Formats: sequence, structure tokens, C-alpha cells
Amino acid sequence: MNCHAVIFDLDGVLTDTAIYHFHAWKALADKLGIAFTEHDNEQLKGVDRLGSLRWILQQGGLTLSEAEEARLMQQKNAHYLALIDHMTAADLYPGVQPLFAALRQSGIKIGLASASKNAAFVVQRLGIAAQFDYIADANQVVNSKPDPEVFLLAAKGLGVTPEGCIGVEDALAGIEAINRAGMKAIGIGDAKVLSGAIRVYPNVKAIKLEEMLGV
Ligand code: BG6
Ligand code: MG
Repeated sequence: MNCHAVIFDLDGVLTDTAIYHFHAWKALADKLGIAFTEHDNEQLKGVDRLGSLRWILQQGGLTLSEAEEARLMQQKNAHYLALIDHMTAADLYPGVQPLFAALRQSGIKIGLASASKNAAFVVQRLGIAAQFDYIADANQVVNSKPDPEVFLLAAKGLGVTPEGCIGVEDALAGIEAINRAGMKAIGIGDAKVLSGAIRVYPNVKAIKLEEMLGV
């Protein structure tokens, strides 16, 4: 393909925040008396805050008022922010900086498409904010992944067509969003889980650029 941009997911692709989201949701689920495992969490990767809360509540057969939902989301986010408070550039996954450098050298733009409202804070902590040509996050979109909106917004912001983009994701919802955006999907994680991706690497460091661009 003629690749003009690579658009990355943040949580679980560029850094290990996925585990902190899990811990914070698990603590909330425990308090509510709802069982929540790492296996369940696979369904929530890439899903926005309200969608994730409602999924957990549904497991426990609970329906709450919007005010109560807002309170629980605030609680979860405060816990999550406390967990990521110590983050620094050292928390960037190995292989990200060399990959960004190689993309830049090849004249390929770098975008971010995150379902998180904390994305700007996290990339700033990781010291990579300035390396993105465009950042799209949950604060700018109405529809969360698996809707393609955040990826399409990133492509627009980068000034490229979706067909010229590769999306990189660790979540099922994210892979679906990339495919629905008309982009090529690269998975990070387990190939058995991320079955909708054209190619799956265990982590960013394992990405072979030539191979990925040839998808
Ligand atoms: C996604 C994560 O990137 O962001 C989800 O994969 C998380 O686990 C979602 O729920 C929303 O994040 P935040 O930071 O806005 O609560
Ligand atoms: Mg992710």
C-alpha cells in the first residue's frame, strides 16, 4: 500500500496504561459486588468511560441514574489518575521511539486516536506529545470505538485519506474501528484475540516497518 500515515492507539500500544484501567475498574466492580476478570477486561479495552461502566453494571444486573453513573466514573478516574501519577518517559514501551524515528524518516505522518479523555496528559507524561502530527481523543468525538469516528478525525487532522492510513491497536473495539474507517489494521497482542487485524505483533518493538507498510 501507499502509506501516508500511521495512527496509533495509546493505552496498551504505546504504554502499559491498559493494566491501570483494569485495576481501577476492578476496584470499582469489587465495591459493587460485581465479578470482573482480566478476560472480561478484553471486552473493555478501547471502550470509552461510560460504555465501560455500563458494561460492568450490566454484568451485575444494575441500572443506575446518570448522576450515580457520573459519581462512579469520577471515582474510577480519580483512582486511575492516582495510579498513573508516577508515569514518566521511562514508561514508554520499548521500540516506540525508534519506530517513530523510522516513520518520520520515511516521510510518514504519525497520528494518535485514543478513546481516553486522559490521552493528552499521558502523552505529555511520556514525553512524546510533540512527535504527533495530529492527536484525536475522546474529548473530540461523539461516538466511541468500535465506531470509526476517532480514526477518521485523526486522518482528517493529518490531511490524509483513510485508505492511506495504517491503524495500530491492542483492542478488539479498536481493530473494528480501524476496519470500519477503511484503514489497514495492525494488532498488538494476541493474534487469536485480534482476529480482525491484517497482521498482529506481540508488541510495538516487534513491528517490522517494511513488512507492516507492505500490508
Ligand atoms: C481507552 C482504554 O483507551 O480509554 C479503555 O482502552 C478506557 O480501557 C478508555 O476505558 C477511556 O479512558 P478514560 O481515560 O477517558 O477514562
Ligand atoms: Mg488500547
